[in-house]
Amino acid sequence: MDEFVIRGHVINPVATDRATMTDSVVHVGADGTIMARHDASTPMAAQVLDHAARHGMAVQVLSPAQLLMPGFADLHVHAPQWPQMGRALDLPLRDWLEQRTFPLEARFADPAFAAPVYDEMVRTLLANGTTTAVFFATIHEESSLLLARTCLRHGLRAHVGLVAMDDPALCPPTYRNAGVEQALDATRRFIHAVRALPGNERGLVRPMVTPRFIPACTDGLLRGLAALAAAEDCLIQTHCSESDWEHDYVRQRTGVNDTVALDRFGLLRRGTVLAHSCFMTADDMALVHARGAAIAHCPVSNAYFAGAVLPLRKAWQAGVHVGLGTDISGGYSPSVAVNAAMAVTASRMLDTGTDPARTAGKRGRPGARLTFTEGLWLATRGGMAALDIAAGQFDAGQAFDAILIDRAAPGSNILPPGPGRTDDTAADVVQQMLCNMGRPDIRAVWVAGRRVHGDVD
Ligand code: GUN
Ligand code: FE
Repeated sequence: MDEFVIRGHVINPVATDRATMTDSVVHVGADGTIMARHDASTPMAAQVLDHAARHGMAVQVLSPAQLLMPGFADLHVHAPQWPQMGRALDLPLRDWLEQRTFPLEARFADPAFAAPVYDEMVRTLLANGTTTAVFFATIHEESSLLLARTCLRHGLRAHVGLVAMDDPALCPPTYRNAGVEQALDATRRFIHAVRALPGNERGLVRPMVTPRFIPACTDGLLRGLAALAAAEDCLIQTHCSESDWEHDYVRQRTGVNDTVALDRFGLLRRGTVLAHSCFMTADDMALVHARGAAIAHCPVSNAYFAGAVLPLRKAWQAGVHVGLGTDISGGYSPSVAVNAAMAVTASRMLDTGTDPARTAGKRGRPGARLTFTEGLWLATRGGMAALDIAAGQFDAGQAFDAILIDRAAPGSNILPPGPGRTDDTAADVVQQMLCNMGRPDIRAVWVAGRRVHGDVD
C-alpha cells in the first residue's frame, strides 16, 4: 500500500460527549496507520502537503459537500441470520430461536449454502460503513472458517466466533454440539485455523470463544470454554440478560443473574463482549467493569425481544465499555448509524417514559437520555475501545478506518450545506449523519488504509 493524503472536512469523536468537525489534512502511512491529522490552516498541514508533493504521493481533496468520518464498529452480528434480516420479528425470543433461527442456522452445515450468504453480508456491511464486526457464526467449522476467509478477502476487520451450544434442554438434535469435548475440540481447532489463515498475518480477523448463551450451554461446556479462552488468550462473546424469559431462565438454573453466573464460569474477562445486558443491577455493572468486559448495546433488537431499554448511561457511570450491535437478525438493519440513532431514540423514551396514562413526572427515568454525539462515540471509538482496537478516531497512531460521505450524492437524504443551513455545528452534522446517512452517500470505505468499498475518483 502507498502512503496517501486526504484533505477535507473530518468529523472526529474526541470524547464520549464531544466531536469536532474541522477542515483537515490526514496523512496515512504505508501500513494503513494515520501518521498525522492537522487542521488545514496550520503550518504542519502545509508541511504534510509539501512532503506529499515532493514524494509524488496521492493527495485526495474532498469537495465541500464531502466529509470523512470514522468507520463503524458493529459489536454483535449473527452472520448466518442474514437471510432472515427484516423477517420473523413478530415472535418472542424463544419461539423465534426454536421456530425460525435454529433451523436457518442448521443449514450452514453446507458450506455451499453459506458461501454466497456470507459474501453478500460482508459486502453489505462494508457498504454501510462498518469497518469492524464481531460475528456469531454457527456451530459448523467449515462454513465459519469460510466466514473468516470472506472477511479477510473483502478487508473487513472482524472477530468471528464458532458458536458453542450443547444443552439438549434448549438446542434441537439437528443443531447442537455432540458434547462438551466435541465443542471444545472444535473451538480449539477453529481458533488455530483462523489465526493461521493465509493473509491474516496482521490479525485483521480474529477468533472469538462463543458460548451462545447460558440457556443453550451445559455447565461443563461453559467452564471448558472459559479455560480454553484463557489458555488461548482469546476474546469471548455471549448473550447476557437479554429478555425476561432468558434472564429468568438463568436465575432459575443458577440462582444468580447472567453476569454473576458468567463470572463464576470464568467467562467474564477483559474484552468479553456481552450482547444486550438490559437487566443488569448496579452490582452486575460493577462486576462487568471490574473484569474489563464490554456491553454490545443492540437497541433495535431490544425493542422486539428485550421488552426493556438498556440504561446505558448507568453502564457508562459504572465505567463499563459500551459499543453498538446491529444483532442481525434480531435487529432488522445492517447499519450501525441506524442503530446509533435508535440508541438515542430509545434513551429518550426511557428518559421521558412512554405511557401517556402517567403524569409526566412519573413517566420516565430522567437522566437516561443520550445525545447524538454520544451515539457517534458508541458507534465508533466506543466499540473499538471495547475491543482494544486502535481505531475510531482520526489521530496519529490509529488505523485509518474511515467513511467518505458525499452529501451531494444522488439519492442522498442528507441535506448538504445550502441556503438556510450554512452554520451547522459539529453536533448538527453528527446528528444529520446518524439520522440521515445511507448507502447512496457512502462513497468509499477504508479499513486500515485499504479501500474496501466504493471509489474516490
Ligand atoms: N440468544 C441466544 N441466541 C440468540 C440470537 O441468535 N439472537 C438473539 N437476539 N438472542 C439470542
Ligand atoms: Fe444476538
